[in-house]
Amino acid sequence: MKPLRIALTKGRLEKDTVGLFELMGKDCEALHNKGRRLILPVGDGSVEAVLCKAADVITYVEHGVCDLGVVGRDTILEYSGSFYEVMDLGFGRCRFALAGPKDKDFYSGYREKTIATKYPNVARAFFESKAMDVNVIKIEGSVELAPLLGLSDAIVDIVETGSTLKENGLRVIEEITPISARLIVNTASMKLRKEEIEALLSQMEAALSEKGR
Ligand code: PRP
Repeated sequence: MKPLRIALTKGRLEKDTVGLFELMGKDCEALHNKGRRLILPVGDGSVEAVLCKAADVITYVEHGVCDLGVVGRDTILEYSGSFYEVMDLGFGRCRFALAGPKDKDFYSGYREKTIATKYPNVARAFFESKAMDVNVIKIEGSVELAPLLGLSDAIVDIVETGSTLKENGLRVIEEITPISARLIVNTASMKLRKEEIEALLSQMEAALSEKGR
């Protein structure tokens, strides 16, 4: 039987996911010593981890080349897609927020505001819910720079500890939504490999509740 393939978001979520696999009793030696390899066996080889960028986790799971994926709710909200979101893994906790210069009142004045963000769909949906027209500019990283350079009035971004905002003279204007890592499953795999996937999900649930104790 070929291994179940699970796409993992590289970086912070990867570390937490490896921690979860270890709590499930799976040997993660290959993931700890991966070098430049991108596809790695987990445990007895019945699971294979695929390391990729967040948005690609969704692409690989949607297309069925990976059966499962671990990805932040931020990425799911921005890219959406067709898959099952089956579990909140509880780690990778942060939030989406609207933030801006701490000495300015964002909502004052009638001029259309400019928002910089890595998440244009999330930003547009947030302002649509307020029936507010804004100009959204996509930035690839360190979005905090945009208001500092005078490109935008505010940003929509992920806030975890709040230190990046604080150290750059910015503050949260409004919280948008909480974020954490989610387990997603390809819709066909859920039917075709139901038993294996359900077994993996129960192991995960058991490990997560053990961790929570
Ligand atoms: C994220 C986010 C903020 C920072 C928030 O960036 O875009 O910049 O983390 O974390 P904090 O509230 O704990 O300071 P990331 O580190 O992923 O880098 P990037 O902006 O280059 O994508």
